[in-house]
Amino acid sequence: MTDARTPPLTDPVQAADKLIVQEVAPRDGLQIEPTWVETADKIALINGLSEAGFTRIEAGSFVSPKAIPALRDGEAVFAQIERRAGVIYVALVPNLKGAERALAAKADELNLVMSASQTHNRANMRMSCESSLAAFGDIVRHVKDTGVRLNATVATAFGCPFEGVIDEDRVVGIVDTYREMGIKGITLADTTGMANPRQVARLVKRVLQRVPPSALTLHFHNTRGLGLANVLAAYEAGARRFDAALGGLGGCPFAPGASGNICTEDLVNLCNEMGIPTGIDLVKLLALSRALPELLGHDVPGQVAKAGRNSDLHPVPDYVLHI
Ligand code: COA
Ligand code: ZN
Repeated sequence: MTDARTPPLTDPVQAADKLIVQEVAPRDGLQIEPTWVETADKIALINGLSEAGFTRIEAGSFVSPKAIPALRDGEAVFAQIERRAGVIYVALVPNLKGAERALAAKADELNLVMSASQTHNRANMRMSCESSLAAFGDIVRHVKDTGVRLNATVATAFGCPFEGVIDEDRVVGIVDTYREMGIKGITLADTTGMANPRQVARLVKRVLQRVPPSALTLHFHNTRGLGLANVLAAYEAGARRFDAALGGLGGCPFAPGASGNICTEDLVNLCNEMGIPTGIDLVKLLALSRALPELLGHDVPGQVAKAGRNSDLHPVPDYVLHI
């Protein structure tokens, strides 16, 4: 029986509960893979992800091919993927040259990256934070009036593998700087899985006083097993957008000990079990994830692809039927 007072599924309160997953396996996931993944296979992966219901996919990066040889075919990938309506295809860029390449490749959004830690920024981007910010200024001026969206990431926002603890005031200050530059989207990234749920809740609450939930993304790595706990802490604190990688792939080649992003299908499974809407088809995701070991030549960390969903039941053993 339908209760007339039951809100419809499109009720704004329920929509506000939606957790947006940005799939980053084609970028964060593949950038660290030692074996070359053919351009056609990258395109097939991105097309498969588009079909699974994502609205945001980080499809590659336009960085130095010497720094990240695994993604040197960004132009070909962006040129040949099927652009599904409603999907934003994001490209990571470090400098103006990267932004020019990404615009030429018709990326919908550019993700600029700088670390809160000077040391990690020098290791990753081979420049100081000041030089990165100067490059971002050039990019903002360059993309102005193109209609292309801008997001900027604070990498190592929850800890640095070289410097350790990162001052939360510094992270908030960088967020303010990005916003003052006219960059709307903000990502807080836990590059090497050093965040804990209480720290996450604290920082998310502070940043949400400056940035609306629709413009804030959390990027967690599961390096110390805290990835999904951090997602829940951030969600409870009001965050609604999260990066995740199919199979739990991923990692920064310039951060010692880096390991995979939180695993997309494990996150979507968590959301399904808890009744948090994501709009993503878990069955399609699991099929894509189960193809990864053959594509990459190694096992991947995701757990639900191995265990199956809660509802994937097993036949009852014969001996049980006779007890
Ligand atoms: N795309 C393609 N080539 C680029 C480029 C870009 N965005 N930026 C620089 N290059 C090229 C230059 O043209 C130059 O080429 P050459 O040697 O053939 O003349 C070479 O790279 C070095 O350029 P330079 O400006 O001196 O760069 P650098 O060596 O100081 O490195 C970065 C700076 C930012 C380009 C490099 O560190 C980088 O790409 N880092 C990204 C790392 C990354 O993706 N990490 C993971 C994601 S967070
Ligand atoms: Zn990452």
